[in-house]
Parts: sequence; C-alpha cells; structure tokens
Amino acid sequence: MDSDFDNNNVIENVPFKKSNSASDEGAQLWVVASGKGGVGKTFVTSSLAITLSKLGHSVVVVDLDLSGANMHTALGLPPSHMNIRHYFEGVKTLQELVIPTPIPHLSYVQGFWDSWTPTDFSYDQVQNLIPELKKLRADYVLVDLGAGALECHLELFKVANEKILISNPEPTSIEKTYRFIESYVCHSLKANSTPDAYSLMISTLRDHRQRTLAKPFSFRSYLKEQTGVNYDFFESLTTNPVRLLINGSRSQSNCELGHSMKSVCNKYYDLGIDYLGAIDYDNAVWQSVRNREAVLLAQPFTSLAGQFFATCKQLIAPEELRAVV
Ligand SMILES: Nc1ncnc2c1ncn2[C@@H]1O[C@H](COP(=O)(O)OP(=O)(O)OP(=O)(O)O)[C@@H](O)[C@H]1O
Ligand SMILES: [Mg+2]
Repeated sequence: MDSDFDNNNVIENVPFKKSNSASDEGAQLWVVASGKGGVGKTFVTSSLAITLSKLGHSVVVVDLDLSGANMHTALGLPPSHMNIRHYFEGVKTLQELVIPTPIPHLSYVQGFWDSWTPTDFSYDQVQNLIPELKKLRADYVLVDLGAGALECHLELFKVANEKILISNPEPTSIEKTYRFIESYVCHSLKANSTPDAYSLMISTLRDHRQRTLAKPFSFRSYLKEQTGVNYDFFESLTTNPVRLLINGSRSQSNCELGHSMKSVCNKYYDLGIDYLGAIDYDNAVWQSVRNREAVLLAQPFTSLAGQFFATCKQLIAPEELRAVV
C-alpha cells in the first residue's frame, strides 16, 4: 500500500461483514506466521488487533510464540503470571486465561513466559487447542506464532480462517517465505495423499532442488501425473488462500514485490495466494516498542494506522468483495 488513506478510500464503501459472535459460528481465527524471524509478526498481529477493536469488534490475541512470548510488550502491558502454560498443564481453560487490556474490546492470552524448559507442541496438543481457540468469546481470535514452518505452526495455519504470512522485502526473508509456502503446501497435501504418494512427492522435490536450486518446483504438472494425491484438494488451497503482507516497505518496488511473489506462486506452485499489501517501514514502530506503547495507540492518525485500517477492511469485507485471488 503506497498511500494509506488512498487505499482506505478505495474500499470505503465496502459493507462490513457482520461480526461472527462466539454464540453462533465461533470466533474467526486469524493466524500470523512467517518464514523468517524478526519480520514483524508481533507488531502486525498487535496492530491488526488494535485496529479491529477500534472498528468495534471484540478481539482476543493469543501469544503462541514458543520461542519467547513478547506480545504483552507490543501491547504495552506487563507480563502476566497466568499464562498459556497453565492451559497446557491442565490448570486452566484457555477462556480462563483471557486477560482484559486497557484497550476497549481487546483482551489477550499471555504466552509462555515462565517456563525455562524447551517448549514444543505435540500433534495432539495442537488438535486439542484448535477448538479451544475457536470457542474463545470474541469476534476475532488473533494468534501470533514464532518464526518458521514448524508442524504446529502449519497445523494452526491450515485451520485458520485467515492465514496471514509476513515477509520483509529483503532477499533473506523472501527466500524463507517461499520455503514456508512450500512446507505449508506439502503439509496440507500430506493429509490428502497416500503415505507412498507423499514420500514420492517429497523425494521428487528433493531431487529437483538438488538439480536446479534456483527454480521452484511445478506442483501442478507433477501432481496431475501422480496417483495417490488428491489434486482437487490441492486446488482448494486457493479458495482459503495464504494472504501475504510485506512489512517494512521502504519504496514503491518493495510495495510491488508482493505482486511478483504472488505470480511466482501461481506459476510454479499452482497456488493462488492473495497479496494483502505493504506496511511501511516507520521509525515510530521501534520507538514505540521502546516506550512500551503500541504505535497505533500513541499515533492513531498516521499513514501506518491507515494501512492497517485498509488491511482489516479488506479482510473483514464480505467474501465476494474481497481482492480476487
Ligand atoms: N513496519 C516497521 N517499521 C519499523 N520497525 C518495525 C516494523 N515492523 C517491525 N519493526 C521492528 O522490528 C522488530 C521486530 O518486530 P517483531 O517483534 O514484531 O517481529 P517478529 O516477526 O514478531 O519477531 P520474532 O520472529 O522474534 O517473533 C521490532 O523491534 C519492531 O519494532
Ligand atoms: Mg514475534
């Protein structure tokens, strides 16, 4: 998004989707992930949450960064003793861990903050956690993950109503963003193929990468020829697409990067992704973090705030009015 409120105006007339309340369909689950660490997941998650709450929706942010919870800092809050460890130890339900914040309509669940042992989720723990997340009493539940394509990240990404993938415009981040997308596709296909077909696909991918390191693999032509893989399912990954957000944009070409990445995914992976847009690099972000104050609260009328409003409006607009994938 080059200019905040311009974009905002484009979709100003888009009628909002009526919020789903916990009482009918359950909360809408938005999961924020990235291939590389430090690209702004926590900043983006907290900013989307603040923006949704300003739009009058109830929001619960859940910090699921296993490598070190810091959502509280991004929201300008002290860490809470009651945290998600208590859920995994069976002491509390997830709902009992929801803590109100001074920001109207916004609550959060503190991540692991006082467990000095390595933390990881088992497959069963993730499967049990998913319905608990959806049952939280809110219109929207936003999950902030740690970096990388861990199995638990991919599982949460798979079930999310919105799968938001953050990349920086730097090559190191772009490269890891493609790796995340590839892992996500393979992970999703695993459940929709026979074990033999899946192993064959992985070994074929590996051989291919050894031969031509530079070129992405064409899933489309490969899968169509293979038996044992549900190709229709592969196509359905496009209907609930990964939504790419470029964070830390410093130029017009950075803003346009998302379009090229979308084309690469289409061309090589046969995967339709949605490009949500770009969020500017802004010194106010890290300055606010240092002051323990969310930038959108400290400076609510900036172009940055406009970019988050535009992003939220795009995401909560009715299906038929969303950006075409
Ligand atoms: N758009 C931006 N402009 C300027 N600084 C930013 C921007 N986005 C994030 N930052 C800064 O980059 C740093 C990393 O951001 P953040 O913690 O949100 O990344 P992360 O992806 O959550 O990292 P991790 O993988 O460690 O969880 C923070 O200090 C933040 O202030
Ligand atoms: Mg983070």
